[in-house]
Amino acid sequence: MTTVWSFPTRILFGEGLATEALAAEVKSLGGSKVLFVTDEGVKGAGLIEPLAEALSEAGIESDVFDQISSNPLESEVLAATDAYRKSESDLLVAVGGGSPLDVAKIVRLAATHPLPLAQYDDAIGGDAKVVNDVPPMVAIPTTAGTGSEVGRSGVVTLQATNKKTVIFAPKLMPNVAILDPKMTESLPPRLTAATGIDALTHLIEAYCAQGDHPMADAIALEGIRLCAEYLERAVHDGKDLEARGEMLKASLMGAVAFQKGLGACHSLAHPLSAEHDLHHGLANALCLPAVLDFNRSVVPERIGRIAKILGARGDDTETLAFECSGAVRALRKKVGLPDGLEAVEIPEDGLARLANLAYDDVCHKLNPRECTAEDLLTLYRASF
Ligand SMILES: NC(=O)c1ccc[n+]([C@@H]2O[C@H](COP(=O)([O-])OP(=O)(O)OC[C@H]3O[C@@H](n4cnc5c(N)ncnc54)[C@H](O)[C@@H]3O)[C@@H](O)[C@H]2O)c1
Ligand SMILES: [Fe+2]
Repeated sequence: MTTVWSFPTRILFGEGLATEALAAEVKSLGGSKVLFVTDEGVKGAGLIEPLAEALSEAGIESDVFDQISSNPLESEVLAATDAYRKSESDLLVAVGGGSPLDVAKIVRLAATHPLPLAQYDDAIGGDAKVVNDVPPMVAIPTTAGTGSEVGRSGVVTLQATNKKTVIFAPKLMPNVAILDPKMTESLPPRLTAATGIDALTHLIEAYCAQGDHPMADAIALEGIRLCAEYLERAVHDGKDLEARGEMLKASLMGAVAFQKGLGACHSLAHPLSAEHDLHHGLANALCLPAVLDFNRSVVPERIGRIAKILGARGDDTETLAFECSGAVRALRKKVGLPDGLEAVEIPEDGLARLANLAYDDVCHKLNPRECTAEDLLTLYRASF
């Protein structure tokens, strides 16, 4: 069996670096006109203006597209592609959480490839059709969660199926990621918590996923340590730039690690967002403990090691693995997130339908323990 390992993104990290470094990065990528891809919340937080000014001072013109929702839709990707063409830009700068970053990646695909987006769905081998060159992209994350700035995938809800669909191709990876803790300062506590648990879920699911990837495993363990040490601080004091910065690192490490794979938690989370517009990170936070309990019999050493990093006590693997879900629940509580699907008003009588949708999602295929649709329903019930 052949396995492919790759960590190629250029990553710049530093406080205030977004405004300082952007123009030089755009120029070195050959950009002469930029389209900012963002959303109204990020723009409203005043994060775009200083970047546009910095570009303007360097003689680079820019336009802004900000009509993107938190669970982005195919129609928004198509509108952004239209804006990209009309503005005659030659480079995209995505500024935001996973939603604008993902949309910008898929705009690069839509602007240069002829087929309807559904044809590029990772679940049907769509990556093989991503063959043309795509315009360059700089990614500036304003949440610390998805790590989309170093990932090769974009997630969008397709119109025809109303399913959150992963479009994956190495060409979609941003050329440069600029990680500036100041860009996450204005993120409110609840979103800081929910996005932080998304990062933690990536790290945990990657570490437990099937497959042989020792580099991803090592990165995942260090990322889990960063979440354990800094997530609460970032939630309780948004101006704590050290904590903000460490969480940005944990987030990108999550996305680097999950090139190994994800697991059942992400399959459970996707229909909750597509059907009920639940924030992606919050959906993961609500389902993760049950998934850890489900997986513990298959990968006890791994789950025991995670528990230990999260502060659980126990002298042997089995005890630690048993304690892991409790450690995640405790962290979830400390960062102020709800404790189950009922608390976010997911209807109990819709769980069976959601379980069938979760079963159709690809992420659980690499879960360490095989899942049936029935298992996924049990996991939703255990997360209720
Ligand atoms: N590409 C991937 O590998 C990957 C991985 C995980 C999740 N995702 C996707 O990413 C999306 C979720 O991304 P997200 O959790 O980062 O949230 P998001 O991008 O949806 O943003 C959530 C909200 O936070 C606001 N916001 C963002 N940054 C802010 C800031 N600094 N100050 C004030 N407000 C701010 C936004 O305006 C928005 O209202 C989902 O669609 C999910 O499916 C993608
Ligand atoms: Fe995620």
